[in-house]
Amino acid sequence: MELPESTLKKIKILKEKYASIGQDLDSYLDGLIYANPLTYWDYIEVDALLSLQKPKTDFPDEKIFIVYHQITELYFSLISHEIEQICKNGKNISEHGEDLGWNSSLDLAFFIERLKRVNKYFEALTNSFDIMRFGMEKEQFTKFRMSLLSASGFQTASYRYIEIACTDLKYLVFEDQRESLFDSDIHTQLDNIYWRRGAIVEDTGEKTLTLRDFENKYLEDFHEFADKYQPINLWKKYKALDANDQKNEQLVKELRELDVNVNINWPLVHFRTAARYLATGKGDEKGTGGTNWQKYLPPHFQRRIFYPELWSEQEREEWGKHWVDAVFADHLKKENHLPK
Ligand code: HEM
Repeated sequence: MELPESTLKKIKILKEKYASIGQDLDSYLDGLIYANPLTYWDYIEVDALLSLQKPKTDFPDEKIFIVYHQITELYFSLISHEIEQICKNGKNISEHGEDLGWNSSLDLAFFIERLKRVNKYFEALTNSFDIMRFGMEKEQFTKFRMSLLSASGFQTASYRYIEIACTDLKYLVFEDQRESLFDSDIHTQLDNIYWRRGAIVEDTGEKTLTLRDFENKYLEDFHEFADKYQPINLWKKYKALDANDQKNEQLVKELRELDVNVNINWPLVHFRTAARYLATGKGDEKGTGGTNWQKYLPPHFQRRIFYPELWSEQEREEWGKHWVDAVFADHLKKENHLPK
């Protein structure tokens, strides 16, 4: 049987490919002869994926709570995947699928396209959060959550990694220390990152168990990650562009959108959800992580801004304020708890 020219060409390329790594093409062709065709369920690991939901109670709605958290983790992983490619300047893949390593200079179009993807993922998360907000019976939620102490979404490490890769740590320091630690080294800034002050027992000033567990598991990793990513974070990448590229409208738009997505829109829809389940109007329920969530979660109180230089003074001043006021008024009105 005659083989077409295109097939012979591919065999030649394969031969060269395997020779370059000291391997024999014939053995790999044998492997192809014996291998089974791929199936959807093996490739997607469906059985493994669907075996990962292990509720702690018999309340049916707990499954929704677990699955939605897992979906969020997968989106966060996609977001980190895109951010890593920008930070490392984009990976070159040859037309034969070979990994040719990282580019040395950042392509503006690549920067913008990857930011667009990140924003799409965040929008998908923000838009789907109603699955949490309205998708569970409050009665069930308030019961099964008591079996989950002291675990909390507060302990989402993937969210913290994304923040560290997005901007300089000086912008993530707890607000009232931000100015005084502005020029400190990154490890001092990380030691004073906003969330380490967030999970403190108000009466005693001690760290909550949720925070202690989280720090024990991840703090060292966060420091290592900061060493690696602070010099190449998204803001550093932006500032390293030439002056003309920094003025690119699309790029600035995507960076501003990212700032709003991570620091206003997602926190706000999340806060709204916490309000639906935990606000009572008289001595609200604590979160499972034990924070004073009414003060800790609203974007306006934290005023985390990744890219302050891209906003006017007034925009920074009013960061998330308008929305938070609206949420509180709306929620309390509905629940008939409007403050006198
Ligand atoms: C009914 C649904 C939810 C409620 C009532 C809720 C409630 C809370 C509360 C009260 C906190 C503050 C810490 C604490 O005291 O526990 C918190 C923090 C947090 N939660 Fe949730 N949450 C919900 C769903 C989610 C989901 C689906 C995720 C996705 C992973 C998530 C991720 C986070 C993160 C990242 C924080 C830390 C926020 C920060 O440090 O600014 N939460 N949550």
